[in-house]
Amino acid sequence: MKNIDWKSLPFGYVKTDYNIRCYYRNGKWGELEISSSENVELHIASTVLHYGQAAFEGLKAYRGKDGKVRLFRWEENWKRLQLSAETVLMKPVNKEVFREACFKAVEMNSEFIPPYGTGGSLYLRPFLIGSGAKVGVSPADEYLFIVFVTPVGPYFKEGFKPVKMQLVKDYDRAAPMGTGHAKVGGNYAAGLRAGERAHHEGFAASIFADSKTKLYIDEAGPANFFGIKDGKYITPDSHSILCSITNMSIRQIAEEIGLTVERRPVAIAELGSFEEAGACGTAAIISPIALIQDRETGEQFVYTTAGEPGPWCQKLYKYLTGVQYGEVEDKFGWCEFVNC
Ligand code: PLP
Ligand code: COI
Repeated sequence: MKNIDWKSLPFGYVKTDYNIRCYYRNGKWGELEISSSENVELHIASTVLHYGQAAFEGLKAYRGKDGKVRLFRWEENWKRLQLSAETVLMKPVNKEVFREACFKAVEMNSEFIPPYGTGGSLYLRPFLIGSGAKVGVSPADEYLFIVFVTPVGPYFKEGFKPVKMQLVKDYDRAAPMGTGHAKVGGNYAAGLRAGERAHHEGFAASIFADSKTKLYIDEAGPANFFGIKDGKYITPDSHSILCSITNMSIRQIAEEIGLTVERRPVAIAELGSFEEAGACGTAAIISPIALIQDRETGEQFVYTTAGEPGPWCQKLYKYLTGVQYGEVEDKFGWCEFVNC
């Protein structure tokens, strides 16, 4: 076990001992390689540097109550990486390569998995880039797939405490028929200006309106949005948002604990009617929203004033993290044990 202050870990980079790499060259994926370097050597004309051929994933391994290590829904992350690769014309990583790289990365860095009870986890960051050289705009012939890991705490410094979010309409994260549904690097670059401005103006994150009509909620910069009212868990359906695996899981949990699930366009005009609201994602887990302020009109939608998450957010959080840390029965079969 490494000498780390596990309880105060932020969501940031900590150097670990190994990362796992695989190269696509001459029309095929090679063998997995174990590296202890934090750097990659890239051709100056590689497509990732110029034309944005880059996609990534995020998933977590948890040290459970029983001491065992669980990896959460890795197959869904693999499927989404396929989709992202197709979206920006990269060579998809096959399932065996993805699985083995993830498991090896956790096993080989097992001393970095935060102990049970600290609230931390080991974040896996698989990513795929066009490493081949092209000067004309076209897909690369060579690709590099890497999985690195880093121990993390909560994404928002507040942890499981309600945060303030800013609704923005003057910047778009993704076009209606663009790449918003894929986890490609360009989406995050497009969201940076709104996100940084939100931080400077005192908010934890920005929430984007849909880029076509500005009448609906798309999602937060790093997480999906949900609202709860009248016994219903309501979350946006939009082609320009990332299909969150956490949200997918929460929808199942919501039904399990007695909420009705609605996945449909969520109008900004509806924001005032929610009893609770939150953002969800691997990094964000469930981050309850205290209030949303519309940057254009100044209007505020307040969900909690007591500084505590609402009762449904608490139930959803307890169930989800309970499964991840082995405290609640994994009846959906979401976790796979890693041998370490
Ligand atoms: N939306 C965006 C833009 C994200 O970056 C993420 C993080 O992966 C999510 C939503 C949540 O997705 P997931 O729950 O699969 O991590
Ligand atoms: C995740 O939740 O895994 C993310 O990728 C969100 C953010 C760190 C980009």
